[in-house]
Amino acid sequence: MTGIICGTGSYVPPYSMDNNDIAKLVETSDEWIRERTGVVRRHIIEEETTVSMAAEAGRLALADAGVDAKDVDLILVSTISSNVILPCAACEVQKILGADHATCFDLNAACTGFLLGYNTAVAYLESGVYQTALVIGSESLSNLTNWSDRGTCILFGDGAGAAVIRAGEGRHYLPVTHSNGAKGEALTCKSRHDHNGLTRKLEPENMAASEYSMQMDGQAVFKFAVRSVPQAVEEVLEKNQVAQEDISCYILHQANRRIVEAVAKRLGEPIEKFPMNLQEYGNTSSASIPILLDELNRDGKLEKGRKIVMAGFGAGLSWGASILEWK
Ligand code: UT7
Repeated sequence: MTGIICGTGSYVPPYSMDNNDIAKLVETSDEWIRERTGVVRRHIIEEETTVSMAAEAGRLALADAGVDAKDVDLILVSTISSNVILPCAACEVQKILGADHATCFDLNAACTGFLLGYNTAVAYLESGVYQTALVIGSESLSNLTNWSDRGTCILFGDGAGAAVIRAGEGRHYLPVTHSNGAKGEALTCKSRHDHNGLTRKLEPENMAASEYSMQMDGQAVFKFAVRSVPQAVEEVLEKNQVAQEDISCYILHQANRRIVEAVAKRLGEPIEKFPMNLQEYGNTSSASIPILLDELNRDGKLEKGRKIVMAGFGAGLSWGASILEWK
Protein backbone atom coordinates (compact mmCIF):
# COMPACT_ATOMS: atom_id res chain seq x y z
CA MET A 1 0.00 0.00 0.00
CA THR A 2 1.25 3.48 -0.82
CA GLY A 3 0.02 6.98 -1.66
CA ILE A 4 -0.63 7.68 -5.33
CA ILE A 5 -1.17 11.15 -6.79
CA CYS A 6 -4.36 10.86 -8.83
CA GLY A 7 -5.12 14.50 -9.59
CA THR A 8 -3.49 17.93 -9.58
CA GLY A 9 -4.65 21.53 -9.76
CA SER A 10 -3.26 25.04 -9.47
CA TYR A 11 -4.29 28.64 -9.31
CA VAL A 12 -2.10 31.64 -10.09
CA PRO A 13 -3.42 35.22 -9.94
CA PRO A 14 -3.88 36.80 -13.40
CA TYR A 15 -2.18 40.06 -12.38
CA SER A 16 1.55 39.92 -13.06
CA MET A 17 4.59 42.19 -12.71
CA ASP A 18 7.55 41.76 -15.02
CA ASN A 19 11.12 42.69 -14.19
CA ASN A 20 10.71 46.16 -15.70
CA ASP A 21 7.83 46.80 -13.28
CA ILE A 22 10.12 45.78 -10.39
CA ALA A 23 12.83 48.12 -11.72
CA LYS A 24 10.39 50.98 -11.11
CA LEU A 25 10.36 50.07 -7.38
CA VAL A 26 14.04 49.33 -6.68
CA GLU A 27 17.39 49.87 -8.36
CA THR A 28 17.64 46.79 -10.57
CA SER A 29 17.19 45.75 -14.20
CA ASP A 30 15.50 43.08 -16.27
CA GLU A 31 18.93 41.91 -17.39
CA TRP A 32 20.27 41.52 -13.81
CA ILE A 33 17.21 39.63 -12.59
CA ARG A 34 17.13 37.28 -15.60
CA GLU A 35 20.85 36.53 -15.39
CA ARG A 36 21.03 35.98 -11.62
CA THR A 37 17.68 34.26 -11.09
CA GLY A 38 15.97 33.30 -14.37
CA VAL A 39 12.79 35.08 -13.22
CA VAL A 40 11.00 37.14 -15.88
CA ARG A 41 7.69 37.88 -14.18
CA ARG A 42 5.73 36.95 -11.07
CA HIS A 43 1.99 36.88 -10.39
CA ILE A 44 0.61 38.91 -7.50
CA ILE A 45 -2.70 38.69 -5.67
CA GLU A 46 -5.32 41.43 -6.01
CA GLU A 47 -8.63 40.18 -4.60
CA GLU A 48 -7.28 36.66 -4.01
CA THR A 49 -6.08 35.36 -0.65
CA THR A 50 -3.97 32.39 0.38
CA VAL A 51 -7.20 30.58 1.31
CA SER A 52 -9.09 31.44 -1.89
CA MET A 53 -6.16 30.31 -4.07
CA ALA A 54 -5.76 27.12 -2.02
CA ALA A 55 -9.44 26.31 -2.39
CA GLU A 56 -9.40 26.88 -6.14
CA ALA A 57 -6.27 24.75 -6.64
CA GLY A 58 -7.87 22.08 -4.43
CA ARG A 59 -11.15 22.19 -6.38
CA LEU A 60 -9.29 21.73 -9.67
CA ALA A 61 -7.22 18.86 -8.25
CA LEU A 62 -10.37 17.06 -7.05
CA ALA A 63 -11.96 17.56 -10.50
CA ASP A 64 -8.82 16.17 -12.18
CA ALA A 65 -8.88 13.15 -9.87
CA GLY A 66 -12.64 12.65 -10.23
CA VAL A 67 -12.92 12.66 -6.44
CA ASP A 68 -15.90 14.15 -4.60
CA ALA A 69 -14.97 16.64 -1.84
CA LYS A 70 -17.10 14.59 0.57
CA ASP A 71 -14.73 11.63 0.09
CA VAL A 72 -11.63 13.56 1.24
CA ASP A 73 -10.37 12.36 4.66
CA LEU A 74 -7.45 14.77 5.09
CA ILE A 75 -6.81 18.34 3.92
CA LEU A 76 -3.32 19.60 4.56
CA VAL A 77 -2.36 23.15 3.57
CA SER A 78 1.30 24.09 3.52
CA THR A 79 1.73 27.85 3.87
CA ILE A 80 3.82 30.55 5.52
CA SER A 81 1.52 33.34 4.38
CA SER A 82 -2.03 32.50 5.29
CA ASN A 83 -4.49 35.38 5.54
CA VAL A 84 -6.05 33.65 8.55
CA ILE A 85 -4.35 32.51 11.72
CA LEU A 86 -7.45 30.90 13.19
CA PRO A 87 -9.13 28.83 11.98
CA CYS A 88 -6.32 27.27 9.95
CA ALA A 89 -6.28 27.67 6.16
CA ALA A 90 -7.08 23.96 5.71
CA CYS A 91 -10.34 24.34 7.67
CA GLU A 92 -11.24 27.37 5.56
CA VAL A 93 -10.59 25.30 2.42
CA GLN A 94 -12.75 22.51 3.85
CA LYS A 95 -15.62 24.97 4.31
CA ILE A 96 -15.32 26.34 0.75
CA LEU A 97 -15.07 22.89 -0.86
CA GLY A 98 -17.69 21.23 1.35
CA ALA A 99 -15.25 18.49 2.34
CA ASP A 100 -17.29 17.82 5.47
CA HIS A 101 -15.60 14.58 6.51
CA ALA A 102 -11.99 15.76 6.26
CA THR A 103 -9.56 16.33 9.11
CA CYS A 104 -7.73 19.58 8.39
CA PHE A 105 -4.51 21.20 9.48
CA ASP A 106 -1.78 23.52 8.23
CA LEU A 107 1.92 22.92 7.99
CA ASN A 108 4.68 25.55 8.01
CA ALA A 109 7.93 24.35 6.50
CA ALA A 110 8.43 27.19 3.99
CA CYS A 111 9.71 26.03 0.61
CA THR A 112 10.02 22.42 1.81
CA GLY A 113 6.38 22.52 2.91
CA PHE A 114 4.69 20.76 0.01
CA LEU A 115 7.25 17.95 0.14
CA LEU A 116 6.67 17.46 3.88
CA GLY A 117 2.90 17.71 3.34
CA TYR A 118 3.11 15.01 0.68
CA ASN A 119 5.23 12.79 2.95
CA THR A 120 2.83 13.31 5.87
CA ALA A 121 -0.20 12.42 3.74
CA VAL A 122 1.51 9.33 2.31
CA ALA A 123 2.44 8.13 5.82
CA TYR A 124 -1.21 8.46 6.92
CA LEU A 125 -2.42 6.63 3.80
CA GLU A 126 0.13 3.84 4.11
CA SER A 127 -0.76 3.24 7.73
CA GLY A 128 -4.44 3.02 6.85
CA VAL A 129 -5.51 6.04 8.92
CA TYR A 130 -6.94 7.83 5.86
CA GLN A 131 -7.83 6.80 2.30
CA THR A 132 -7.88 10.12 0.43
CA ALA A 133 -5.84 13.25 1.06
CA LEU A 134 -5.80 16.71 -0.51
CA VAL A 135 -2.39 18.36 -0.08
CA ILE A 136 -2.10 22.03 -1.04
CA GLY A 137 0.74 24.57 -1.10
CA SER A 138 -0.56 28.15 -1.18
CA GLU A 139 1.31 31.42 -0.70
CA SER A 140 0.70 35.16 -0.83
CA LEU A 141 4.37 36.04 -0.47
CA SER A 142 3.68 39.55 -1.77
CA ASN A 143 2.26 40.27 1.71
CA LEU A 144 5.57 39.26 3.33
CA THR A 145 7.87 40.95 0.82
CA ASN A 146 9.80 44.11 1.57
CA TRP A 147 9.21 45.90 -1.72
CA SER A 148 12.12 48.24 -1.10
CA ASP A 149 14.67 45.43 -0.70
CA ARG A 150 16.10 44.49 -4.11
CA GLY A 151 17.79 41.42 -2.64
CA THR A 152 14.42 39.73 -2.08
CA CYS A 153 11.57 41.52 -3.90
CA ILE A 154 12.84 40.37 -7.29
CA LEU A 155 12.40 36.72 -6.37
CA PHE A 156 8.98 35.98 -4.96
CA GLY A 157 5.46 35.50 -6.32
CA ASP A 158 1.99 34.28 -5.31
CA GLY A 159 0.02 31.16 -6.22
CA ALA A 160 -1.25 27.76 -5.16
CA GLY A 161 -0.91 24.14 -6.25
CA ALA A 162 -2.62 20.98 -5.04
CA ALA A 163 -2.53 17.21 -5.36
CA VAL A 164 -5.08 14.53 -4.49
CA ILE A 165 -3.36 11.46 -3.05
CA ARG A 166 -5.13 8.14 -2.59
CA ALA A 167 -4.13 4.91 -0.95
CA GLY A 168 -3.37 2.34 -3.62
CA GLU A 169 -1.20 -0.57 -4.66
CA GLY A 170 2.36 0.33 -5.49
CA ARG A 171 5.88 0.46 -4.22
CA HIS A 172 6.53 2.28 -0.97
CA TYR A 173 9.46 4.72 -1.13
CA LEU A 174 11.09 6.16 1.97
CA PRO A 175 11.62 9.94 1.89
CA VAL A 176 14.72 11.85 2.96
CA THR A 177 14.12 14.94 5.12
CA HIS A 178 16.44 17.21 7.08
CA SER A 179 16.26 20.38 9.19
CA ASN A 180 18.95 22.62 10.64
CA GLY A 181 17.45 25.21 12.97
CA ALA A 182 20.91 26.43 13.93
CA LYS A 183 21.19 28.01 10.47
CA GLY A 184 17.68 29.48 10.52
CA GLU A 185 18.82 33.11 10.54
CA ALA A 186 19.59 32.86 6.81
CA LEU A 187 15.91 33.36 5.96
CA THR A 188 13.48 34.85 8.45
CA CYS A 189 10.19 36.67 8.74
CA LYS A 190 9.33 38.01 12.19
CA SER A 191 5.72 37.67 13.17
CA ARG A 192 3.58 40.69 13.88
CA HIS A 193 2.24 39.03 17.02
CA ASP A 194 5.66 39.45 18.64
CA HIS A 195 4.77 43.13 18.80
CA ASN A 196 1.37 43.20 20.40
CA GLY A 197 1.67 46.66 21.90
CA LEU A 198 1.23 45.31 25.45
CA THR A 199 4.75 44.04 25.89
CA ARG A 200 6.44 46.36 23.42
CA LYS A 201 5.47 49.90 22.60
CA LEU A 202 4.98 50.30 18.87
CA GLU A 203 6.96 53.35 17.85
CA PRO A 204 7.16 54.16 14.13
CA GLU A 205 10.87 53.30 14.07
CA ASN A 206 10.04 49.83 15.41
CA MET A 207 7.70 49.26 12.51
CA ALA A 208 10.25 49.41 9.71
CA ALA A 209 9.15 47.23 6.80
CA SER A 210 12.09 44.93 7.39
CA GLU A 211 10.66 43.79 10.72
CA TYR A 212 7.50 42.53 9.12
CA SER A 213 8.83 41.05 5.92
CA MET A 214 11.20 38.34 4.77
CA GLN A 215 14.88 38.93 5.31
CA MET A 216 17.38 36.73 3.58
CA ASP A 217 21.09 36.14 3.31
CA GLY A 218 20.81 35.26 -0.38
CA GLN A 219 24.31 33.88 -0.81
CA ALA A 220 24.01 31.66 2.30
CA VAL A 221 20.72 30.21 1.05
CA PHE A 222 22.18 29.75 -2.43
CA LYS A 223 25.21 27.84 -1.12
CA PHE A 224 23.04 25.74 1.18
CA ALA A 225 20.73 24.83 -1.71
CA VAL A 226 23.39 23.80 -4.22
CA ARG A 227 25.13 21.64 -1.60
CA SER A 228 22.19 20.05 0.20
CA VAL A 229 19.74 19.33 -2.63
CA PRO A 230 22.07 17.03 -4.65
CA GLN A 231 23.01 15.26 -1.40
CA ALA A 232 19.35 14.70 -0.51
CA VAL A 233 18.61 13.39 -4.01
CA GLU A 234 21.55 10.97 -3.87
CA GLU A 235 20.50 9.91 -0.38
CA VAL A 236 16.90 9.17 -1.38
CA LEU A 237 18.00 7.16 -4.44
CA GLU A 238 20.47 5.17 -2.34
CA LYS A 239 17.98 4.59 0.45
CA ASN A 240 15.44 3.15 -1.99
CA GLN A 241 17.96 1.41 -4.26
CA VAL A 242 16.78 3.37 -7.31
CA ALA A 243 19.25 4.26 -10.08
CA GLN A 244 19.51 7.81 -11.42
CA GLU A 245 18.74 6.55 -14.94
CA ASP A 246 15.36 5.30 -13.72
CA ILE A 247 14.31 8.84 -12.78
CA SER A 248 12.31 10.48 -15.58
CA CYS A 249 12.42 13.99 -14.10
CA TYR A 250 13.37 16.02 -11.05
CA ILE A 251 10.78 18.47 -9.80
CA LEU A 252 12.71 20.93 -7.67
CA HIS A 253 11.44 23.86 -5.65
CA GLN A 254 11.55 26.76 -8.12
CA ALA A 255 13.82 29.29 -6.39
CA ASN A 256 16.46 30.27 -8.91
CA ARG A 257 17.43 28.89 -12.35
CA ARG A 258 21.10 28.87 -11.33
CA ILE A 259 20.28 26.64 -8.34
CA VAL A 260 18.44 24.16 -10.58
CA GLU A 261 21.32 24.18 -13.09
CA ALA A 262 23.90 23.65 -10.32
CA VAL A 263 21.92 20.68 -8.93
CA ALA A 264 21.68 19.12 -12.41
CA LYS A 265 25.43 19.56 -12.88
CA ARG A 266 26.33 18.07 -9.51
CA LEU A 267 24.14 15.06 -10.22
CA GLY A 268 25.59 14.70 -13.73
CA GLU A 269 22.09 14.81 -15.19
CA PRO A 270 20.97 16.70 -18.34
CA ILE A 271 19.12 19.95 -17.58
CA GLU A 272 16.20 18.64 -19.72
CA LYS A 273 15.32 16.35 -16.78
CA PHE A 274 14.69 19.46 -14.62
CA PRO A 275 11.50 21.19 -15.78
CA MET A 276 11.23 24.84 -14.72
CA ASN A 277 8.52 27.47 -14.63
CA LEU A 278 10.18 29.99 -12.30
CA GLN A 279 10.58 32.37 -15.25
CA GLU A 280 6.80 32.88 -15.17
CA TYR A 281 6.01 32.72 -11.43
CA GLY A 282 9.20 33.47 -9.48
CA ASN A 283 9.64 31.65 -6.18
CA THR A 284 6.20 30.76 -4.77
CA SER A 285 7.61 28.84 -1.77
CA SER A 286 5.46 25.82 -0.90
CA ALA A 287 3.29 26.36 -4.00
CA SER A 288 6.12 26.00 -6.51
CA ILE A 289 6.39 22.19 -6.63
CA PRO A 290 2.63 21.49 -6.95
CA ILE A 291 2.15 24.29 -9.54
CA LEU A 292 4.91 22.74 -11.66
CA LEU A 293 3.55 19.24 -11.10
CA ASP A 294 0.12 20.40 -12.26
CA GLU A 295 1.51 22.07 -15.39
CA LEU A 296 3.45 18.93 -16.33
CA ASN A 297 0.41 16.76 -15.66
CA ARG A 298 -1.91 18.92 -17.75
CA ASP A 299 0.62 19.10 -20.58
CA GLY A 300 0.80 15.28 -20.61
CA LYS A 301 4.52 15.33 -19.81
CA LEU A 302 4.42 12.81 -16.95
CA GLU A 303 4.45 9.22 -18.16
CA LYS A 304 2.50 6.54 -16.35
CA GLY A 305 4.68 4.28 -14.23
CA ARG A 306 7.73 6.56 -14.48
CA LYS A 307 9.60 7.63 -11.37
CA ILE A 308 9.88 11.28 -10.35
CA VAL A 309 12.02 12.90 -7.67
CA MET A 310 10.58 15.91 -5.84
CA ALA A 311 13.03 18.03 -3.85
CA GLY A 312 12.41 21.04 -1.62
CA PHE A 313 14.65 23.38 0.34
CA GLY A 314 14.35 26.66 2.17
CA ALA A 315 13.80 28.48 5.44
CA GLY A 316 14.30 26.55 8.65
CA LEU A 317 16.65 25.58 7.24
CA SER A 318 14.89 22.53 5.91
CA TRP A 319 15.27 20.30 2.87
CA GLY A 320 14.46 16.88 1.53
CA ALA A 321 13.64 14.65 -1.43
CA SER A 322 11.01 12.02 -2.20
CA ILE A 323 10.49 9.51 -4.99
CA LEU A 324 7.04 8.89 -6.44
CA GLU A 325 5.68 6.84 -9.31
CA TRP A 326 3.27 8.66 -11.61
CA LYS A 327 -0.31 7.32 -11.63
O1 UT7 B 1 13.24 29.34 -1.41
C1 UT7 B 1 14.54 29.61 -1.03
C2 UT7 B 1 14.63 31.09 -0.99
N1 UT7 B 1 15.78 31.77 -1.37
C3 UT7 B 1 16.61 31.53 -2.40
O2 UT7 B 1 16.56 30.58 -3.11
C4 UT7 B 1 17.63 32.59 -2.65
C5 UT7 B 1 18.98 32.04 -3.02
N2 UT7 B 1 19.87 33.12 -3.41
C6 UT7 B 1 19.79 33.74 -4.60
O3 UT7 B 1 18.95 33.41 -5.44
C7 UT7 B 1 20.80 34.81 -4.90
O4 UT7 B 1 21.72 34.91 -3.82
C8 UT7 B 1 20.17 36.21 -5.16
C9 UT7 B 1 19.44 36.20 -6.51
C10 UT7 B 1 19.23 36.61 -4.05
C11 UT7 B 1 21.29 37.26 -5.27
O5 UT7 B 1 22.19 36.90 -6.28
P1 UT7 B 1 23.76 36.88 -5.98
O6 UT7 B 1 24.39 36.47 -7.24
O7 UT7 B 1 23.99 36.01 -4.79
O8 UT7 B 1 24.04 38.38 -5.70
P2 UT7 B 1 24.76 39.03 -4.41
O9 UT7 B 1 23.83 39.09 -3.28
O10 UT7 B 1 26.09 38.39 -4.24
O11 UT7 B 1 25.01 40.50 -4.93
C12 UT7 B 1 25.93 40.78 -6.01
C13 UT7 B 1 25.82 42.26 -6.33
C14 UT7 B 1 25.91 43.15 -5.12
O12 UT7 B 1 26.56 44.33 -5.52
P3 UT7 B 1 28.12 44.57 -5.20
O13 UT7 B 1 28.23 44.48 -3.70
O14 UT7 B 1 28.84 43.46 -5.91
O15 UT7 B 1 28.40 45.92 -5.77
C15 UT7 B 1 24.48 43.48 -4.80
O16 UT7 B 1 24.32 44.71 -4.14
O17 UT7 B 1 24.55 42.53 -6.94
C16 UT7 B 1 23.87 43.56 -6.19
N3 UT7 B 1 22.44 43.26 -6.22
C17 UT7 B 1 21.65 43.68 -7.20
N4 UT7 B 1 21.88 44.42 -8.31
C18 UT7 B 1 20.85 44.65 -9.11
C19 UT7 B 1 21.72 42.53 -5.34
N5 UT7 B 1 20.44 42.46 -5.74
C20 UT7 B 1 20.37 43.17 -6.89
C21 UT7 B 1 19.33 43.46 -7.78
N6 UT7 B 1 19.60 44.21 -8.87
N7 UT7 B 1 18.08 43.03 -7.59
